[in-house]
Amino acid sequence: MISSLLALQSDFSLRSLNTLGINARAQGYIRVEDVAALQATLRDPALNVLPRLVLGGGSNIVLTKDFPGLVLHMCMQGRAVVAKDASATYVRAAAGENWHDFVQWSLTQGLPGLENLSLIPGTVGAAPIQNIGAYGVEVGELLHSVEIFDCAQGRVRELDQLTCAFAYRDSIFKHELAGRAIVLAATFRLPHAWRPRLDYHELRQELEGQGLIQPTAQQVSQVVIHIRQRKLPDPAVLGNTGSFFKNPLVSAAQRTQLLTEHPQLVSHAQPDGRYKLAAGWMIDQCGWKGKSVGAAGVYEKQALVLVNRGQASGQDIVHLAELIQHDVEARFKVRLEPEPLFV
Ligand code: EPU
Repeated sequence: MISSLLALQSDFSLRSLNTLGINARAQGYIRVEDVAALQATLRDPALNVLPRLVLGGGSNIVLTKDFPGLVLHMCMQGRAVVAKDASATYVRAAAGENWHDFVQWSLTQGLPGLENLSLIPGTVGAAPIQNIGAYGVEVGELLHSVEIFDCAQGRVRELDQLTCAFAYRDSIFKHELAGRAIVLAATFRLPHAWRPRLDYHELRQELEGQGLIQPTAQQVSQVVIHIRQRKLPDPAVLGNTGSFFKNPLVSAAQRTQLLTEHPQLVSHAQPDGRYKLAAGWMIDQCGWKGKSVGAAGVYEKQALVLVNRGQASGQDIVHLAELIQHDVEARFKVRLEPEPLFV
């Protein structure tokens, strides 16, 4: 018996719920507005046997086919300052909050810290899962804790920052807790002592160009928005999932070897001695920038971004990604790993 708390919709189009704009359908769809609705769904004997897909802003998934199960669309709202101590302010936001709106809200509250992460598409609930990052900052650095519903234990739990095991576009939610944890909310620790994070060359350069040597958080946010709008397609206009591949990490020895053949190789030293290679540069070198295979394409201004030029299917996108992986591996002996989840 399906609980009356739940508004279940059948054979539901997911086109407007994924930023690639793939027209796949779900067997069932529920808009989750609160924890009670989530618990009712997970307890419902007709629903809890179905495969589940938890969806936030749909900005990091590729729907490769119709989904033969239940989509839980996380729409819980709410954001607030929840605590303050000698060193920081703590803000909490529910999973369904739009990420960029939340960042802007925190800045208008006079709480800097998240400005480098302005304009990243998606929701607060998705941010910790892939540890979103941009312009020298990763969200895991600022996350105090993540509230989850643990489907195995059937209860709400709070995970601290360390437990979340944040790494480059990675966390516990992609490993031990994959398919088991549903993010309900996140709490951020924003230190009172703030200085702009300007390690990223392009950001610093752009700010300096505007004569901003000691910018405010609002100014950093404005410049990040400007750079993103210049380089990355707006999903509302051209379907995409942001960077389609992670920047691969290689050993110092492998980088040295690559440099002998490719002196222009773009790479960045990591704290652990490894190097992050610019996947966008490698794809660009392979001649893929601006190219298309059917309706699946490589964005003209950033080769790391795959786009849906119209009616591309998830399979079209996967096919293009495989062609790119093949070419990059043949030329650079490096296997690119996709960033979005293939469903
Ligand atoms: N490059 C090229 N050709 C291209 C694209 C890039 O030569 O077509 C070169 C650039 O000139 C630059 C280097 O590659 O020297 C790196 O490019 P960029 O600064 O655009 O950053 P990225 O490494 O491609 C990463 C993140 C982005 C994030 C930016 C800024 C990953 C997978 N991507 O991109 O994150 O916004 O840095 O911090 O780590 C996302 O994850 O969806 C995303 C957009």
